[in-house]
Amino acid sequence: MRTVDLIHRKRDGEELSSEEIAAFVDGYTNGTIPDYQASAFLMAVFFSGMTDREVSSLTERMVQSGETVDLSSVPGVKVDKHSTGGVGDKTSLIAAPLAAAAGVTVPMISGRALGHTGGTLDKLESIPGLRTDLTLDEFRQQLAQHQLAFIGQSAEIAPADARIYALRDATATVESIPLIASSIMSKKLAAGLDAIILDVKVGAGAFMKRQVDARRLAQMMVGIGRRMDKRVQALITDMNQPLGYAVGNALEVMEVSQTLQNAGPTDLTRLSLELAARMIHLGKVTATLDEARELATKKLLDGSGYRKLKEVIAAQGGNPAVLDRFELLPNATGAREISSPRPGYISAIDAEYIGQASAMIGAGRDTKEDSIDPAVGVILEVKVGQKVDAGGVLCRLYYTREDNVDEAAQLVEDAFRISSTAPESRELILEVVG
Ligand code: URA
Repeated sequence: MRTVDLIHRKRDGEELSSEEIAAFVDGYTNGTIPDYQASAFLMAVFFSGMTDREVSSLTERMVQSGETVDLSSVPGVKVDKHSTGGVGDKTSLIAAPLAAAAGVTVPMISGRALGHTGGTLDKLESIPGLRTDLTLDEFRQQLAQHQLAFIGQSAEIAPADARIYALRDATATVESIPLIASSIMSKKLAAGLDAIILDVKVGAGAFMKRQVDARRLAQMMVGIGRRMDKRVQALITDMNQPLGYAVGNALEVMEVSQTLQNAGPTDLTRLSLELAARMIHLGKVTATLDEARELATKKLLDGSGYRKLKEVIAAQGGNPAVLDRFELLPNATGAREISSPRPGYISAIDAEYIGQASAMIGAGRDTKEDSIDPAVGVILEVKVGQKVDAGGVLCRLYYTREDNVDEAAQLVEDAFRISSTAPESRELILEVVG
């Protein structure tokens, strides 16, 4: 079959066969399809979309492009959690230890920060000594011993995704629902999991700005999982303001510690507990979701989630004392206060602006090669709905180098919308799919 015919048919909205989709994935991965034809194909998908069958074929072939991790020697039901990308989203570091403490085996294959969104691996690596480059054998051993291990995606897992994602990034085809769904699910399905809870973010700080698109993405990912006999559920959650107060790697680890000691922000605690409960239920530790919620809460209140995270930090070579003594984490050297120009109510905090500002002073990266400053970031002092006085502190920027601080401060200031009346309260968990 000729690649040009595939592009032509997809451009005209036709449904491609599994063989045709496999030919595209294989051809692009092995270099026989050039970038210009792959780009045209991706743009055709961007505009024409894909049916559920097509997106499953695409995902399956991307999984087959590399190795599948064999976790059959590890006891227990394996459940992972994945977020589509948010700002201040440190729920993985809270929900995973809670679920593991409750008896679920949690192989966490996590990502890095990119653009304005953060990544679990970078947050963890702000802990001195902690390694996320475990070998697969170390990963399996740690899972068997501690029920939780964190690693990054290796080059062997879904290599087709790595190639296609890099091309999407350069051809304005990232924000396509079937392409995002297949990209995320191919990596998850190659990781030897039994079940996955997905946190699909919607709002200013997310890929999906509209709930209807977030719902379609969630439905597509749940459908892909089901067709491959995996239990998959998705929550659609609000990303119209950062989650919790801290944005930035070491700052977020500090907030994780507070939250696992039941002294964290309400929104972060609530979402982390719900994600943990769903992991516990998907992991078949409890018969009902209500029992799973009770168990997750118990593991928070009795400190066993907190102890589990310490145990896992030590197992991966990090110093667990960082969770008690924050001075052992990288700390910023400078701080700038951003204050409110007028009195009123906080009606919105643009999470994308906050994420961009934090990345600009070193907490994130523009390209995969950029390095991260683990100490820097933003701490919000207020959340949506709160009242502020003129001159009241909205947030603080923490930095180690002066470059970009003025620009970041401006961006952060622009992120806060202040109204004269209290805004209507918004739900954090908007929908459950699956
Ligand atoms: N995360 C991924 O892994 N892939 C996408 O396409 C978007 C977010």
